[in-house]
Amino acid sequence: MFREPCRIGNVAFTNRVLRSSMGGRNCFYDGTVSPAFIHFERRFAQSGVAGIISATISVNKERMSPLEYPSLYDERFVVPLRDAVRQITAGTDCRYIVQLGDTGAHTHTSLKPQDQDRISASPFFDLLYGYHNRSRKMTEDEIKAAVASFAAAARRVLAAKCDGVEVTASKGYLIHQFLNPFTNRRDDAYGGSIDGRFRFLEEIVRAVRQAVGREFLFGVRLSAKDFNYLPINIRWPLFPLRDYFGGNDLPETTYYARRLEQLGVDYLHIDSGFGFPNPKGSPGDYPDEGFQNFVNATRYLSAKARARAAVFNIVPAAVRKKVFGLGYRFQPAANADFAAAIRRVVSIPVIANGGFQDRRVINHALNTGKCDMVAIARPLLANPDLVRQLAAADMPANPCSFCTLCCSQTAVSPLGCYDQRRFSSLEQMMDQIIAWSSPNMEMPVARPAAPPATVTTP
Ligand SMILES: Cc1cc2nc3c(=O)[nH]c(=O)nc-3n(C[C@H](O)[C@H](O)[C@H](O)COP(=O)(O)O)c2cc1C
Ligand code: SF4
Repeated sequence: MFREPCRIGNVAFTNRVLRSSMGGRNCFYDGTVSPAFIHFERRFAQSGVAGIISATISVNKERMSPLEYPSLYDERFVVPLRDAVRQITAGTDCRYIVQLGDTGAHTHTSLKPQDQDRISASPFFDLLYGYHNRSRKMTEDEIKAAVASFAAAARRVLAAKCDGVEVTASKGYLIHQFLNPFTNRRDDAYGGSIDGRFRFLEEIVRAVRQAVGREFLFGVRLSAKDFNYLPINIRWPLFPLRDYFGGNDLPETTYYARRLEQLGVDYLHIDSGFGFPNPKGSPGDYPDEGFQNFVNATRYLSAKARARAAVFNIVPAAVRKKVFGLGYRFQPAANADFAAAIRRVVSIPVIANGGFQDRRVINHALNTGKCDMVAIARPLLANPDLVRQLAAADMPANPCSFCTLCCSQTAVSPLGCYDQRRFSSLEQMMDQIIAWSSPNMEMPVARPAAPPATVTTP
């Protein structure tokens, strides 16, 4: 089933598997795509995926989140991106969709601390996400500028001859901060009610559609359910408790989905949770070592970042795993039921994200009509030729263990697989990480020294 072709809007896909967004530090400091970026992306294009959804590409000069991630805030990025996409997809049927985003107060890191990295819908404190001590409420002028920055970046995606554009309203990033009632306490037109919280996204969708025209493929990534209580986190304000622990749930997100369809969006890309990474959006083991690397690498940025690092360095690992690890567990097809709930209320295609690796699980989600396509990240990082392997077997020979180490430190460490159990030695694992983004290096064939970690299937 996953090998069947499909179509979204005017774009034809050769099968139902997309490479999901994977951001990493493989561009030039200013965000211009580099040979390392091209090399990384090209491995997937050559591996048989129907399309690639890019890393979250920043629309804003200040919130680059982090340095060396790709950017599209200026015209000078268009020609390098156009050339890169041409090289990435050359000789393949792979489509290239650029995901645009703005991290707002969840900006992971910065060269120096700056006020622009704390802007959000409202003021709040969040120990885990973003590096600033407290977020700051955006003015209406800042909101208008942010809407315009999405439209301008979308126009650049079109000019770069990509196959489509996706706006992320998920991952706890700026648009999600407007949608989530915990982070949006505004009482003006951009808050106060479900329509108020949706308004920022609505204005962006209208502006992007106008910028790219009716024919260009345009999707939105949406979190079906915020699960604000996961991971365990220290946040303020605490009240009302319903917003603190909950956030958007299916009644709200099915409403957003219908509105997005009415606004002319071509597809919806569904995950869940609030913040990146989080136990629902990245279903798998709790990656304590990766988080420790991340918090220590960013500790210079604020008093909060120093306190966060102190917590991770002082509290014993066993306690950290119990407290911060609450909710982290692998769940196959983690968001497929949410995708199904959304698919029931719209007639545009729906892509499900998270926990797909087993061919039986992928085919079951597609065959039962839960989704039209699946988007995969970690299993493709573990096995770039996953689609080819799944043509011959239900599972890859050396599967991703869903240890989640790769996403927990991607803001500070190179992209690659960090589960040493999948390799014959530490040296082989490190060679693999370096090879991912090095055009002149052979990728070592990963072979575990011991039998591969067990992955649960239903
Ligand atoms: C290294 C890495 C980087 C990621 N970067 C992004 C990103 O830039 N934007 C985004 O929306 N999701 C990002 N994700 C999340 C993935 O797109 C995906 O939603 C998540 O890993 C769950 O899918 P999986 O179970 O197939 O890995 C990243 C994931 C990984 C592993
Ligand atoms: S580090 Fe490797 S095994 Fe662990 S989740 Fe990432 S790709 Fe999979």
